[in-house]
Amino acid sequence: MCGITGYVGDGVALDGTDGGTDDDSGARVGDFVHEGLRNLEYRGYDSAGIALVGASSGLTVAKRSGEVANLAVPDVADATLGVGHTRWSTHGPPTDANAHPHTDCDGDVAVVHNGIVENYAALKADLSAHEFTSDTDTEVIPHLIEEELAERSGAGDLLDAVRAVEDRLEGSYAICAVREGADRIVVARRGSPLVLGRGADATFVASDVTAFLEHTRDVTYLEDGDVASLSADGVEVYADGDLVDRETETVTWEADAAEKGGYDHYMRKEIHEQPESLRQTIAGRLDVDRGEVDLDVSFPPGFLADLEEIQIVACGTSNYAGQYAARLFEELSGVRATVDIASEYEFGAGRSPDRTLVVAVTQSGETADTLGAVRRANAAGARTFAVTNTLGSTVTREVDDTAFIRAGPEIGVAATKTFASQVATLAMLAVSIGRERGALAAADVRPVLEGLRDLPGAVQQVLDNENRVREAATEYGDSEAFFFVGRKLGVPVALEGALKLKEISYDHAEGFAAGELKHGPLALVTPDTPVLALLTEGGRADETMNNVTEAQTRGAPAIGCVSAGDEYGTLDVSLPVPDVGVAEPLVANVYLQLFAYHVANDKGRSIDKPRNLAKSVTVE
Ligand code: G6P
Repeated sequence: MCGITGYVGDGVALDGTDGGTDDDSGARVGDFVHEGLRNLEYRGYDSAGIALVGASSGLTVAKRSGEVANLAVPDVADATLGVGHTRWSTHGPPTDANAHPHTDCDGDVAVVHNGIVENYAALKADLSAHEFTSDTDTEVIPHLIEEELAERSGAGDLLDAVRAVEDRLEGSYAICAVREGADRIVVARRGSPLVLGRGADATFVASDVTAFLEHTRDVTYLEDGDVASLSADGVEVYADGDLVDRETETVTWEADAAEKGGYDHYMRKEIHEQPESLRQTIAGRLDVDRGEVDLDVSFPPGFLADLEEIQIVACGTSNYAGQYAARLFEELSGVRATVDIASEYEFGAGRSPDRTLVVAVTQSGETADTLGAVRRANAAGARTFAVTNTLGSTVTREVDDTAFIRAGPEIGVAATKTFASQVATLAMLAVSIGRERGALAAADVRPVLEGLRDLPGAVQQVLDNENRVREAATEYGDSEAFFFVGRKLGVPVALEGALKLKEISYDHAEGFAAGELKHGPLALVTPDTPVLALLTEGGRADETMNNVTEAQTRGAPAIGCVSAGDEYGTLDVSLPVPDVGVAEPLVANVYLQLFAYHVANDKGRSIDKPRNLAKSVTVE
């Protein structure tokens, strides 16, 4: 997840606060872009960059690694338009060279991009005559635009060139392109957000309205497949080559809510970001037809064939992601998989280090307990692997290989979107190991890959049902305690659901393997202890429902997340989960996140910063 923004206009704030058209209006174009980037930093802060176009000064680019505050606005007094980017690295480390904007060979065209160009390697191969200066997927775009403009004898329109290039890009993206001598910004959107801010003599564009809300509240949301040409006078939006009308609406959020995308809390915003973050997690990594996964990781020859054990080490929510994955590793790769709480991990006697892969799952990459476990594994001579959200984090420097989950920054202390992206990444790793070991035929793996491919849409369907969960939270939120139950893949999700609720609502919540209810916890069950159950594919739904019935017999209300098409008529609340195979419990978890959120919100809890907890715990 990166943030992109742009401004074209006379350098006067749309509310007129910057006065008339005096000499430094060009300087304010850069300031508007810089300000937009500061407001978008929640989307990434690995590097920042700005490109400005001036009537006689041409195209000027400034970019550097680090936060937006480190980037000085280029001094372009005659600037009439500009674009900017704040980066959350996915392809290539957070260096100056990899910072956006990226330019063509002559430095005439500059592009900022949010998303992933999945076919960039093939496109780059076609562009062998061009000079590339970064490791990014993005850099193919300005070079493709350069080719399109050259085909039009250099005189062609930037809009036509971007439209032609768009046809060649695969993946999810939002881009803004500018060109020396052109008086407009051309933008395109497919799969990544892009919104326009409209004014009388200026137009803004950004990944999110937060970027420009201080200047205009009149916005137009672009739709997937739209390409638009923005000038100071207005916008032209094209869909499938035709000029289309896109509605302009007025945003009514206050500034504080705007930072959170209109939500009251970062946590709820991040829950709702999951379709986008999951799209990023899987982008360019799945080949459903061939049954392949590409995580851009290669193990030494023979290592996977000889692999005897996968040991997952992690804390908190990451540990539950690891527990979900362990079951997938065993099923898909045929290798024994264990999960340790990182602070409890020892490399066991009798294990052969050279036949063991230790997988550290850590959102931050900085958790001291997890780093301690990685160091113990390294000392024992095992091969180590990190699954993390954070490029350049300590864990990435200590392990042999890393796969990034690409979820973008998560600000709420309670992990939500990163859990989903961790599980999706680990599932891809399980498929990749299974396929390389020859344990899995392409046909066997296809349903799993289809489930992963369909995850973003399935999560969106759950989010669209938020009202039903909100009602359940209001009805049952004041209960004495909450029990979460599931089987198989439902167990880690039950544990995660309970953790989420206790973290942010401070209520007593516990997760159990459903079969264990009768071996003790049932003594706690009363009419004042709702049971939340995972009744999905991958979770032995019928057997779980038997255990739920045991709790209902003792008077407990029951809320079930149920595979679409199945029905358990005795449930008090039934929440449908779209059909995505073994990913269903992961989708059901979104209901549990929303349940925890609304219970805590009804109680007025400090949701983004729960008492006594920290996002990243760097002490043992
Ligand atoms: C802290 C956070 C949890 C997180 C855990 C592991 O306890 O509050 O939300 O799950 O650390 O963090 P990591 O960054 O290693 O995933």
